[in-house]
Amino acid sequence: MEKKKIVTLMLGTILLSGVCTESYGQKKHLKDAFAGKFYIGTALNQGQITGRDAASIQVVKEDFSAIVAENCMKIESIQPQEGVFNFDLADQFVEFGEKNGLFITGHTLMWHSQVPAWFFKDSQGNEVTKEVLIERMKKHITTLVTRYKGRVKGWDVVNEAIEDDGSYRKSRFFNILGEDFIKLAFQFAHEADPSAELYYNDYSMANPGKRKGVVAMVKMLKEAGLRIDAVGMQCHIGLDYPSLTEFEASMEAFAAAGVKVMITEMDLTVLPMPNQRVGADVSANFEYQKKQNPYAEGLPDSVNAIFEKRYSDFFGLFLKHQDYVTRVTVWGVNDGMSWRNGWPVRGRTDYPLLFDRANKPKPIVNKLIQQAANYSKKK
Ligand code: G3I
Repeated sequence: MEKKKIVTLMLGTILLSGVCTESYGQKKHLKDAFAGKFYIGTALNQGQITGRDAASIQVVKEDFSAIVAENCMKIESIQPQEGVFNFDLADQFVEFGEKNGLFITGHTLMWHSQVPAWFFKDSQGNEVTKEVLIERMKKHITTLVTRYKGRVKGWDVVNEAIEDDGSYRKSRFFNILGEDFIKLAFQFAHEADPSAELYYNDYSMANPGKRKGVVAMVKMLKEAGLRIDAVGMQCHIGLDYPSLTEFEASMEAFAAAGVKVMITEMDLTVLPMPNQRVGADVSANFEYQKKQNPYAEGLPDSVNAIFEKRYSDFFGLFLKHQDYVTRVTVWGVNDGMSWRNGWPVRGRTDYPLLFDRANKPKPIVNKLIQQAANYSKKK
């Protein structure tokens, strides 16, 4: 067969395979597969926001429809000293989101962690009065939210204020202002941008005690006439925790309380947890021991199979409840950038996300794309 015919045949094969793939409706990227169901998002770190990490930025552009600031909008980053605001990274983050048509979430206005010491001290170094703390909260929230008015579409207004037993975390905000600090944070955020969605965000949300506490807090905010649009379930999970049943029970309880549900920081550690009770409390850390880092050379197929089933089981819940699940965000693009490599034990090799250390989609990505397509067909 002369050369011309061989080339034609090869071209035809390539085209046909391409057409076949598309013709089966098999989307190539996550955002296309989940379009019309819920936003599929990721957290952006400094390397991505500054454009340094071009490879993973390409993945963000191709696969994700939403972004959240991993660190650049936290209090210590935005206002490291009283009255000194640093918006450089946050500006670049928002510009990136707008340029790429992404749903932008700001994280996080009020959190007990990453708050510079000055926030709670007066000029003599004593604890601030209620009035001063309220003024500082109002100034911080109003300045930050106003700057991105109409551009940041949703804010994690308060992060991790409820304990596993449903009681309020005894943070410095709570110790000085009681639960009013939560109401004030939502009030100030809404006053600064009435169009923005407002969220409460927390981890270990499958825990029945925390579920009860969060539902009570949502009701408290609504009874006070304050806007709260959604509860963010961070979803920092493991191979065998939390139970799907408890997680779904929490999803249902939050929806029944009259708010949407967002999965805000999903990752799935394959590593042993020295202490299951630490949830995602960033302050926890444990001594490195070799036995706690079993997959430094790579992930065995047997473990990867469980990893894939867990991701698929949770996405099955999100698809089942897509009437009130409005966003599913993973906490980073590739395994190498995940906070889980360093928490709660520093120096480990984890595999918690959907893309590998070379920014290649893991097999689970295609499986989730297929799962979304099949779910649409079933409906
Ligand atoms: O940017 C500095 C760098 O200049 C410095 O050299 C380096 C070493 O000190 O620190 C870098 O800052 C670190 C930052 O991550 C960026 O890598 C901070 O020390 C470190 O504390 C910070 O950790 C973040 C953590 O929140 C605390 O803010 C993690 O990246 C981030 O993934 C994690 O995310 C939290 C959510 O905000 C809330 N939910 C739990 C989740 C996991 O803890």
